[in-house]
Amino acid sequence: MRLLTIIALIWLLAACSTTPTQPTLYERLGEQEGITTIVDNLLYEIGGNDTLLPFFAATNISRFREKLIEQLCQVSDGPCDYTGDSMAQVHAGMDLNDSHFNALVTDLVAAMDEAGVATGAQNDLLARLVPMYDEVMNPDDYINAEPTDTDANRVTR
Ligand code: HEM
Repeated sequence: MRLLTIIALIWLLAACSTTPTQPTLYERLGEQEGITTIVDNLLYEIGGNDTLLPFFAATNISRFREKLIEQLCQVSDGPCDYTGDSMAQVHAGMDLNDSHFNALVTDLVAAMDEAGVATGAQNDLLARLVPMYDEVMNPDDYINAEPTDTDANRVTR
């Protein structure tokens, strides 16, 4: 009986060890191709959004696209390094408020819906962007302050 229990335990452990690992958020977003589609859909949404579009009037859109793809890839644990500017540098002087932030989140959700991203993965990506809220909305508090961990790998234009 004791031997049977041991065999059963070994079998159980072996079964556990072959259980597939959870996919990363990067994989759940569809990897590079999926993230590129999300960002392209977002650009399309911004193009039709009167609240957001004026902010992008002087923006180099191909750079914005490239840096946002890098950033979403990095925050979702993909094989990328974000090489854009810090969130404070980028959004300084824009005087953003919550209606701007909400408009961007709404467009990002629409972009992810359009790309077929599951709700769970959408929520997980939004949760990883939330920690950047303060730096985006209150850039002056971060400029000339001590560098933070999230400022690693940034270059200036
Ligand atoms: C958590 C929220 C946000 C994230 C993660 C984010 C991320 C980014 C990134 C990665 C860039 C490109 C950086 C670079 O070129 O080095 C960027 C640029 C930009 N973002 Fe955001 N952003 C956020 C919120 C917002 C909001 C709410 C607005 C409102 C309009 C906004 C407007 C812009 C504009 C206009 C640019 C281009 C700036 C330029 O022309 O140089 N962002 N953002």
